[in-house]
Amino acid sequence: MSKKVLITGATGDTGRAAVRESIALGLDVRAMVRRRGARSEALEALGAEVVIGDLLEINTIRDAMKGVDAAYLVWPVQPGLINATVNFAQAAKETGLKTVINLSQRSANRESSSDSSRDTYIAEEILNWSGLAVIHLRPTYFLEWLLYPWQLPYLQQGVLRMPVGKGRHSPIAADDQGRAIAALLKNPEAHIGTTIPLSGPIEMDHEQMAAELSEALGRKIVFQDLPIDEYCNSIEAMGVPPYIVQHLGGAMVDYQNGHMSGADNNVEKLTGRRSMTVGEFARLHADKLNGA
Ligand SMILES: NC(=O)c1ccc[n+]([C@@H]2O[C@H](COP(=O)([O-])OP(=O)(O)OC[C@H]3O[C@@H](n4cnc5c(N)ncnc54)[C@H](OP(=O)(O)O)[C@@H]3O)[C@@H](O)[C@H]2O)c1
Repeated sequence: MSKKVLITGATGDTGRAAVRESIALGLDVRAMVRRRGARSEALEALGAEVVIGDLLEINTIRDAMKGVDAAYLVWPVQPGLINATVNFAQAAKETGLKTVINLSQRSANRESSSDSSRDTYIAEEILNWSGLAVIHLRPTYFLEWLLYPWQLPYLQQGVLRMPVGKGRHSPIAADDQGRAIAALLKNPEAHIGTTIPLSGPIEMDHEQMAAELSEALGRKIVFQDLPIDEYCNSIEAMGVPPYIVQHLGGAMVDYQNGHMSGADNNVEKLTGRRSMTVGEFARLHADKLNGA
């Protein structure tokens, strides 16, 4: 009988990828979603069992967790992470869940001025003292940033607009995180109690990223640096929720101070295949990035 796993946030970027990759590894996947619709039907079409659950409602999590060996926990950048994590840990205790793969962030830090980064640090600590067998993943910025609604319109016009100065990182795709999550859900033993950084293969600044995007998309992309406040005010005016704006205000300071820097081959170590580059991601999503 194959191992049963629960994947929360299954309609989100990393959750969707984790569902697909876990099924590919032969795991028996239960995908937790908030409501039924086209997105949950797509998960069922992949072979997942879909359950309705809300991380802010303990009983729905307990029900979703029954009979599960290992689970992936993810919460969006929005208020409620600590509440959701405590609920998840309590449900895990009640159901005897063996392993938790927790999506944290590279910038998790109790000294950060980002509310989200401080909450994420506390959420890690809660899981640590819960006594559950936990693996934390600390990704750097996702490549999906290029597709976020407050970035994409600029990129479509040839501008990579980020308040990052000469800061550096090695962005990582959600699809590659999904492969790492699936591998850990399947074989967690050697990693229990560890925190695994997840980065793409090549560290770069945003001048280099713009050059790689230009090459991949076959048109000029120019990096535009700007003050963090100006950036935050502008995305707030575009309708980005206040919690995300507040997070980015702090996280961009952390970014400029090197908190997201470095590259690693942890995806490759876990899965046997390296994570994709900026150019590979851009070619995969060229239609969206070009506004076709
Ligand atoms: N983006 C980055 O560069 C970056 C970098 C490092 C770390 N991270 C971390 O990545 C995490 C986000 O991961 P992601 O991009 O995969 O998430 P995402 O695409 O934003 O998806 C979030 C998922 O959570 C679900 N959700 C929302 N409210 C819920 C609730 N009350 N109960 C249960 N599920 C709920 C959403 O459901 P619906 O689809 O129904 O809303 C969705 O499936 C954050 O914790 C962030 O700190 C992000």
